[in-house]
Amino acid sequence: MRDRASREISYLRLSVTRRCGFSCIYCADRQCRDTPDGELSPPEIFRITGALAEAGCHKVRLTGGEPLIRRDIAEICRGIRELPAVRELALTTNGLYLAGMARELFAAGVSRVNISIDTLNPAKFERITGRSCLGKVLSGLETALSCGFERVKINTVLLHGLNDDAASVRELAALADRYPLDIRFIELMPAGGADFSVREHFAAGGVVLRALPDLTEIPGEAGRSGVARMYRREGSPGRIGIIAPITGSFCRECNRIRVLSDGRLRLCLFGGREFDLRHLSRAEIVRVFRIASGLKPEEHGITADASGIRIPMQEIGG
Ligand code: 5AD
Ligand code: SF4
Repeated sequence: MRDRASREISYLRLSVTRRCGFSCIYCADRQCRDTPDGELSPPEIFRITGALAEAGCHKVRLTGGEPLIRRDIAEICRGIRELPAVRELALTTNGLYLAGMARELFAAGVSRVNISIDTLNPAKFERITGRSCLGKVLSGLETALSCGFERVKINTVLLHGLNDDAASVRELAALADRYPLDIRFIELMPAGGADFSVREHFAAGGVVLRALPDLTEIPGEAGRSGVARMYRREGSPGRIGIIAPITGSFCRECNRIRVLSDGRLRLCLFGGREFDLRHLSRAEIVRVFRIASGLKPEEHGITADASGIRIPMQEIGG
């Protein structure tokens, strides 16, 4: 299914819950309720995902909130993996429960995991996420690396004054020297609670290139990982990426749609129309998806000064 900017919509990001034990400054609105109310049940998830996959969304990524907070997450993964039109199942997690669950998720058919890690400094980790559990997250990373996933990726949101200095960027990038993983630095998008200043915390993706002058850009398709531009360092098993939603041309590569944990279809992270899929039959879901794809915005038009918009990130799942 192609949208009006000729982008093939083939990637569904499905939020299975808005609950999350963390409250990252750039994501969570501290006013946000944290109850399972309204979450789609496994059969509802399978109906919506099955219909969208048949309509062309062959790649599915589960997000949250924190997807591993759902007790039925392994059942959800197994059910999605059994849908014939789903070719790939991935998951994005804050890593807290990963050490205990990575093997079960792999066995349930998850082939890739992305873990959010913004700093390797325990005090800063607590400042950013509201939890002092960097050690558990790192042990989740180690487990994930040892159980056979295709590629483990780390997401790091660049935060001015917290992790955008050269030493912090190098420390994080060094993970790609030690492990065969991708670490992707993401420009801050306008989200979080009203007390969080997006403007003060914004850092452009260019800080990564300045901190790591020895990076070589990987050319062509191989150098693209979703919306990220990828780089490598001589002798490193891993790769380093930059995702630049604000200073880059991010929308051109966007092949995704999102479904929120209550079944709303959302066309763009930054807004646009939503469609309620929860009470629709499979055929109706396919029809709505076709109409909706034609309405997906071509560009988000957001700049670093954030112009007052706040993305409900905890609900959308990045
Ligand atoms: N800006 C950029 N990235 C964000 N994420 C969450 N909130 C933001 C934000 N305001 C990213 C996190 C997480 C992914 C799902 O979304 O890195 O890994
Ligand atoms: Fe939770 Fe992820 Fe948002 Fe952090 S970024 S509050 S871990 S959903």
